[in-house]
Amino acid sequence: MLGSPLLALTTRFPFDNLFLVEMGIDEFNALETRVHASERDSRAVLYNEDCNVAVDTVVARIGQIDKEFIDGIWPCLNLAFLDPEGLEVEWQTVKKLASLQRMDLIINFSTSGITRNARLAVDNEDFTTVDCFFGTRDWRSVYERARGGGSALVRRALIDFYLSRLHDMGYVETKRQEKEFKNQRNVQIYTMIFASKSDLGIKFWNGAVEEVRQPRLL
Ligand SMILES: C[S@@+](CC[C@H](N)C(=O)[O-])C[C@H]1O[C@@H](n2cnc3c(N)ncnc32)[C@H](O)[C@@H]1O
Repeated sequence: MLGSPLLALTTRFPFDNLFLVEMGIDEFNALETRVHASERDSRAVLYNEDCNVAVDTVVARIGQIDKEFIDGIWPCLNLAFLDPEGLEVEWQTVKKLASLQRMDLIINFSTSGITRNARLAVDNEDFTTVDCFFGTRDWRSVYERARGGGSALVRRALIDFYLSRLHDMGYVETKRQEKEFKNQRNVQIYTMIFASKSDLGIKFWNGAVEEVRQPRLL
């Protein structure tokens, strides 16, 4: 089965440009080999870097491409797929991507990572991983309020908090912008969040997820 970079590269209606960021050296080498096996490889630029650093180069490059057309009037359509293992993608990175006029987002929101790290963070003010993930310390009061209601309520409250931060940046508020994935014990381990500043983007997403089946997860 193809991973997301290869799916993006080989899709029927191809992207003009792909910016692929992978920090791990072994993973990067494998990615590079696979991308170069495609006849569309010249469309892809690869970065062996922390995504929270590479985002500046990527956003600047998209800004340059926009200028080649009618600057500010006819911007490129962009889709960022943020697929970390845990909480590696900082809010600052999401915010930089969202600064582009037309930037849809698909975010793999690690609910298991959040709940695990939130517990560590409330007992340790210096543990800032979750603060960087949300881009604020305000999640702490949301967490405290939900905590007594059990893990499902905590997950819901923290996802809603994240969504509210996306809405504050101009993303459309909708009830159907998530797809949750559970493990074999029926525990939600991650939620795929889709965000668009356009109702049409949400419509496309709703059409696409109807065909998505629950993957087999351990
Ligand atoms: C869930 S995997 C991505 C899988 C990929 N989307 C696919 O479909 O094949 C997450 C990847 O993110 C990489 N990673 C972790 N932290 C990162 C960071 N800060 N910047 C860039 N890549 C990172 C990991 O090495 C890992 O290969």
